[in-house]
Amino acid sequence: MNNFVFQNHTRIYFGKGVVEEYLAKLLQPYGKNVLLAYGGGSIKRTGVYDTVTAQVRAAGKTVFDFPGIMANPTKAKVDEGVRLVKEKNIDFILAVGGGSAIDCAKAIAIGSRYAGDWWNDFWLNQGRVDFEQLPLGVVLTISGTGSEFDGGGVITNTETNIKTGRIYPELSPNFSLLDPDYTLTVPERQVRATAFDTMSHLMEFYFCKPDTDNVSDDLLEALLRAQIRNFRSFMKDLKDYDARSNIEWISSLALCGIMGLGKQPDFDCHNLEHQIGAFTDCVHGEGLAVITPPYYRWLLPHAVGRFVRFAVNVWGLAPQGDDKALAAAGVEALADFIRSVGLPTTMQQLGVKDMAELTKIARSVQTGPGTYCKCTPADVEAIFKACWE
Ligand code: NZQ
Ligand code: ZN
Repeated sequence: MNNFVFQNHTRIYFGKGVVEEYLAKLLQPYGKNVLLAYGGGSIKRTGVYDTVTAQVRAAGKTVFDFPGIMANPTKAKVDEGVRLVKEKNIDFILAVGGGSAIDCAKAIAIGSRYAGDWWNDFWLNQGRVDFEQLPLGVVLTISGTGSEFDGGGVITNTETNIKTGRIYPELSPNFSLLDPDYTLTVPERQVRATAFDTMSHLMEFYFCKPDTDNVSDDLLEALLRAQIRNFRSFMKDLKDYDARSNIEWISSLALCGIMGLGKQPDFDCHNLEHQIGAFTDCVHGEGLAVITPPYYRWLLPHAVGRFVRFAVNVWGLAPQGDDKALAAAGVEALADFIRSVGLPTTMQQLGVKDMAELTKIARSVQTGPGTYCKCTPADVEAIFKACWE
């Protein structure tokens, strides 16, 4: 194992009824003014808004609404939230929703307590949180990103077409309430996309060095098998509580920090996808579904042993003499799975207009240092072209 330091300060409350049971008590230690950060209105349609605001008021707090956080939250929306926090003397942010509401709330938590340019100093560049940011809690209504249990936040600057994520352990929410019943109203398309997002997080940690015996790899294989099994179950019955609660907890585990211990991921599938999102506003998990098979076909010759392990331990393929063929069969099993659950497979389905736009997006991607192999700008372009149609 490589050396590591691990701490995650988020307290998780998981299961039916956790909001009614715990939210009011959890808010007690904080100040009076609570900013309720949420999306385009699903929480009003499902009744979650009424339940949550009743608990906030029961705690003796005043609710200030901050609605309209869009999927792929923007820098402009964060700026709006920062202004509201200052104007209303907000003491606590409660994000109610998924990755978009939570990430926007995290950026507001930093931006509202920082005197300089939060975008430049904490998102464009890695900063240091050496000041007290605004405290943050979460009521999760859609699982997948793991934002409820990590310090990550992904924000899009629509003026410069840059979508970028940063991780600050200090931004892990103070608490997160996860009632799987709250996720049962998520439309099927989003359920599929977010479940694939979780698979991608697990694979990002799995397809990287070191290859020496590492318990993180054993955990990742177990979670990947569980995710695939539960994915197949909810595709038969979207209201399958066991499957939906399992994928919710797997998604939290995937990015809580434990799965990547001792590993050196570069999250390049995410680096590629984020720029497609910056240009097309596509659904994050769908973008990942499109680019992952061609990305892995490109990576395979540099990591044959790792892909053989994936084929055998994740997809249950029988070991055979020809390692390269077995490794390739594992990637094709993943591609077949993506097709079988109805996720998109082409750039055109994501909304990329033409080859000129595809090239422009490819050239805007900043890849990581590379673990098995550095993905060059020419590689990115070739991967994108391989999934054009
Ligand atoms: O906006 P509303 O009306 O609430 O509707 C949302 C939205 O349209 C809807 N929804 C959520 N809960 C629902 C529901 N509809 C019915 N019933 C419910 N219970 O679902 C849609 C998607 O919500 P969103 O929060 O955008 O989805 P997700 O959780 O997938 O978040 C995506 C964002 O997170 C970032 C992505 O890049 C993207 O910007 N990520 C954040 C990460 C992190 N913080 O660690 C890591 C991820 O890799 C990812 O990059
Ligand atoms: Zn993701």
